Amino acid sequence: MKVFSVLGSPRRKGNTSVVLERFLQGIRENHVGVEECVVFLHEKSIKPCMACDSCKTGTKTCVVDDDMQRLYGEVKKADLIVFATPIYWWNMSSQLKTFLDRLYALDYENDFRNKRFVLLMTYGGEDPNSGALLLEKSLREVCEFLAMDFAGSFGLCSENPSEQNDKLIEEAYKLGKKL
Ligand SMILES: Cc1cc2nc3c(=O)[nH]c(=O)nc-3n(C[C@H](O)[C@H](O)[C@H](O)COP(=O)(O)O)c2cc1C
Repeated sequence: MKVFSVLGSPRRKGNTSVVLERFLQGIRENHVGVEECVVFLHEKSIKPCMACDSCKTGTKTCVVDDDMQRLYGEVKKADLIVFATPIYWWNMSSQLKTFLDRLYALDYENDFRNKRFVLLMTYGGEDPNSGALLLEKSLREVCEFLAMDFAGSFGLCSENPSEQNDKLIEEAYKLGKKL
């Protein structure tokens, strides 16, 4: 199984990266032959989509020359795509949104079909967190449009007491294990 994960937080060792790492541990420990690619988006050069439409009507590829050119290939190869993001203003981080917009350049009728998708989120506001609920709803619709299987989600309030979160984070591990 090829697992392609994007970390949308600007903090490489922040709350979201802890959740992502625990989730990936669950995958590693319960699957053989896992190939992983984890991308820390904040360090990549990824320009915003400029809506030139070349990917649809011209060259049929994205003409923006930046780190996305390599990431397109990784996305296409993946069996499982993982978005890990902090909630920013009831939504995903801007790093992740910029990445998502650029996926528009792929063939959205075929390149995502039958892949599985997992959403991991952290947020400061207590559960149930309306930002996390909104983002999950939105990405479920994206998955439906792309014919991807929304295989699961996990959310963690980073402001909980740490003993409580040590327990809750095991759910991320279990989600990885059961995939
Ligand atoms: C710009 C910004 C916007 C935020 N917006 C929200 C929000 O709308 N809802 C919420 O619950 N937490 C919000 N937070 C809190 C973060 O989601 C939370 O601290 C998260 O765990 C940070 O993850 P990280 O450690 O991986 O960076 C915001 C934080 C920042 C910096």
